[in-house]
Amino acid sequence: MFNYMPAQGSDWAANIDFLNELITDISVYCTIAIIGTMLYFAMRYRRRTANDKTPHIVHSTALEVTWTIIPTAVCMFLFVVGFQQYHEERNPPANAIEINVQAYSWRWEFEYPNGRRSTNELTVPLGMPVRLIMHSNDVLHSFYIPVMRVKEDVMKNIYTYLWFKPILAGDFHIFCAEYCGLNHSAMRATLHVVSPEQYQDFLTDRNASNEPELPPAELGKKVFGVKGCNACHSLDGSKIIGPSLKGAFGSERPLADGSKVMRDENYIRESILNPRAKVCESFPDGVMPAFEGQLSEKELTGLVEFIKSLK
Ligand code: CUA
Repeated sequence: MFNYMPAQGSDWAANIDFLNELITDISVYCTIAIIGTMLYFAMRYRRRTANDKTPHIVHSTALEVTWTIIPTAVCMFLFVVGFQQYHEERNPPANAIEINVQAYSWRWEFEYPNGRRSTNELTVPLGMPVRLIMHSNDVLHSFYIPVMRVKEDVMKNIYTYLWFKPILAGDFHIFCAEYCGLNHSAMRATLHVVSPEQYQDFLTDRNASNEPELPPAELGKKVFGVKGCNACHSLDGSKIIGPSLKGAFGSERPLADGSKVMRDENYIRESILNPRAKVCESFPDGVMPAFEGQLSEKELTGLVEFIKSLK
């Protein structure tokens, strides 16, 4: 009954709206029923004479069991449906297109797999899952696409993620949904959902005002050589001073303290900037120098993408 959301642009938008609507409806009807009953009882059972006495009310098991079981069942239903949606939103498909998002006060920059970049305009193909790897260069921002029903905080020094599958072509709003200073309200961008062919044209459009640069993974490969990473890390699986980076991304690795860590973008980033934060079991010496302050955000993203590509 109460749906105030914009068009349903992603494949899960209808499910999210269903749950949102259901919770809103239950809240509104319960509020009306409770306040209504309260007002009715206040009039119906009001004190009429000075001699009125409050009756002695005894415990009713049937009533108490009923008002425990019904709300519990309703809450469990909402939880199960909500958890399924949460699980879907947290687990992008393996074939998702990965786009890097950099937030600045007050603009959004996007970098596509082939090195194409754009400012305040995100172009994605219709019907393909898109995964955003997001990072802020200053304060806390929040990336919000109402039409896709996704929103996630964007922070400095850590990557956060979003994914969605667009099912509606067109131009849509992107907002910053976290107050981030003077021009927060102007920190908007446009999402272009286009056909897969138009997306390819967009990627290869060399006449675009912002000339495509090196793809992130290729820039990372260059940085890898320039910074001398290859002195300690092989790319073919052989052991030099540090662990080989072949297949280093994506699996769990045992740490020296006995715990395990998932080798995702954040782990790679941390291990470059501060290698001693999580020392792995097979290389306990922690001899790698820290690269904190020695790499630009672009070089870091490049290195992460390069290590990711070493399957
Ligand atoms: Cu960025 Cu508000």
